[in-house]
Amino acid sequence: MHKKQIEELAVRISGTQSKPADARVKAIVDRLLVDIFTVIDDFDVTPEEFWSALSYLTELGQSNEYALLAAGLGIEHYFDIRLDEKEAAAGIETGGTPRTIEGPLYVGGAPVSTGEARLDDDPDVGEILFMEGQVTDTAGRPLAGATVEVWHANTKGNYSFFDKSQSPFNLRRTIKTDAEGRYRFRSIMPSGYGCPPTGPTQHLLDRLGRHGQRPAHIHFMVSADGYRQLTTQINIEGDAYLHDDFAFATRDGLIPAVTHHTDPSALKDRGVNGPFATITFDFTLPHAVAGVPATLIDRPRAQVG
Ligand code: DHB
Ligand code: FE
Repeated sequence: MHKKQIEELAVRISGTQSKPADARVKAIVDRLLVDIFTVIDDFDVTPEEFWSALSYLTELGQSNEYALLAAGLGIEHYFDIRLDEKEAAAGIETGGTPRTIEGPLYVGGAPVSTGEARLDDDPDVGEILFMEGQVTDTAGRPLAGATVEVWHANTKGNYSFFDKSQSPFNLRRTIKTDAEGRYRFRSIMPSGYGCPPTGPTQHLLDRLGRHGQRPAHIHFMVSADGYRQLTTQINIEGDAYLHDDFAFATRDGLIPAVTHHTDPSALKDRGVNGPFATITFDFTLPHAVAGVPATLIDRPRAQVG
């Protein structure tokens, strides 16, 4: 079809009548229709291909993998880039810890403690991990009473709540920083995540010739009154997928050094009976500024309790 005919059709479908309507929805539906019709034309998409795509979307919803596919197609990362640009344009203080995607596996309502926490409720074979750091403003001033939410996968790359074999909040905690703005926790070293191998996300990735793996990582949401909320992750150095994340979430500044300790006296000092790793990572929050889009996205999230 000619572009003009496509546009005329799309305008009619997206509603030209005088009935009250949502102008933004109309405009976006109109644009999407033009783009879809153009793709069908340009690629001579067959009806079979189209109905197969619809079945695919049905399966995606039934498998609860829409958010997974959004990450795999880089759309969640794209929103990060856009927010970075908006912050830069609004003159937000520089030097804050880089954001990166939340992913679909956050659960609200994790146990809260001050200063420190132990995250591993379930037995696991992972290397013991001690992580600590300080939450500060961009001038390096400590932020006492800041909230550090942390969540990560177990050694199979699975997350509690979604993986019902784990205790409800295994590897999920909320830590309030102490008077010096510090947090610390004991946990186990996570493994990377892989998309469900027989699910629709992996199916499409296969068609694209891509894998569905993420490097080992630990998620954080950090907030303090008067500062911009931060959603981010650290990646575990040395992981084969460190710079080949299917969700495009690895960023400079989010790959702290990991130190592995095997010396018996170090084990004794820590009160552990196996090798352990340590990570130090500080979070830096810029001041909040009115009129800049929020960092914490309003999206459906699991909430327990
Ligand atoms: C995704 C993100 C994660 O952090 C994860 O563990 C799994 C999947 C995602 O964005 O799809
Ligand atoms: Fe994750």
